[in-house]
Amino acid sequence: MKRAVGSVPAGPHIPVLLDEVLAALALPGAALAVDGTFGAGGYTRAMLAADPALRVVAIDRDPSAIAAGAGLVAEACGRLRLVSGCFGDLDALLADIGESQADRIVLDIGVSSMQLDQPERGFSFRFDGPLDMRMGADGPSAADLVNEADEAVLADIVYHYGEERRARAVARTIIEARRRGRIETTAQLADLVAGVVRTEPGSGIHPATRTFQGLRIAVNDELGELVRALHAAERALRPGGRLAVVTFHSLEDRIVKQFFAARSGRASQGSRHLPGALPGNGPVRSFQLVTKGPVLPGEAEIARNPRARSAKLRAAERTEMPAPAPLDAIRTLASLPEPRGGARR
Ligand SMILES: C[S@@+](CC[C@H](N)C(=O)[O-])C[C@H]1O[C@@H](n2cnc3c(N)ncnc32)[C@H](O)[C@@H]1O
Repeated sequence: MKRAVGSVPAGPHIPVLLDEVLAALALPGAALAVDGTFGAGGYTRAMLAADPALRVVAIDRDPSAIAAGAGLVAEACGRLRLVSGCFGDLDALLADIGESQADRIVLDIGVSSMQLDQPERGFSFRFDGPLDMRMGADGPSAADLVNEADEAVLADIVYHYGEERRARAVARTIIEARRRGRIETTAQLADLVAGVVRTEPGSGIHPATRTFQGLRIAVNDELGELVRALHAAERALRPGGRLAVVTFHSLEDRIVKQFFAARSGRASQGSRHLPGALPGNGPVRSFQLVTKGPVLPGEAEIARNPRARSAKLRAAERTEMPAPAPLDAIRTLASLPEPRGGARR
């Protein structure tokens, strides 16, 4: 017998903008929802509880998140399928398990509290740990990047993805330190950055915050994944299906905002990378906006969960218009501003 799973205890990660996400998804009537960022299962659990007829496919690239979800799978009595993989491939992952289309898709972009709070994952300067930062199980780690990338590449990453104005100084100091030996730990890197980056006294912001963000985004190709996921969701959603995306910083939010603007016929030109009009075809109107602007957390949520403070939700509904052919090249980095002082060569 199918039943709700609202009794499953919440995980260590507090789901952000949960009520707003559920409202934007408008679940009644949906048969299959995809949670592209399973994490601790907060959204998945809430979706299963909200509609006893709903089936959920939940994806995560982190094998430990998938393993920790086994209890929820058992609770869900056949209504939940966990899939290990990247949400940029979500339409292919659905096809692999015999699902052709989805009615709802939700993405809660970024890193989970469990990942941030485990020193051995190397995401945070708050603990000393190996300089890893990989959400998934493979690919180069942050230590590989920090010890092997050219100075100009490091400066680009720290400037563009970390939005760190002192990116050139950070890159230079890393290169100098490399001559003395490999940089293997989060504490080593945080100390190096603190030597060249100053933050406002009393701001509570660690000097290495932006450098760590930049490296994490690069290690996990987070912006590329987001762009691929938006296009994959466009292909996978049925007409009338909904996509809700929660982001945590301006680089991600800008990509979602531009995509929805371009695909709802709102952007006159679109951007170079997400054109709003295709030559000879008129504007692409594959989505219509559900949220006219970003939905932000209220003060009560921020007080309860400070990690929610920079969250933004945007949602849109799929129209009947077929998804345009895949773009030849989506280069998100090229759409970002040039570094001050010419970090790019
Ligand atoms: C912010 S947490 C999601 C939390 C979840 N909404 C909840 O309420 O428990 C983000 C999760 O998405 C996963 N993730 C990040 N990028 C991913 C990607 N490209 N593909 C699949 N999973 C990804 C991370 O491993 C992490 O577990």
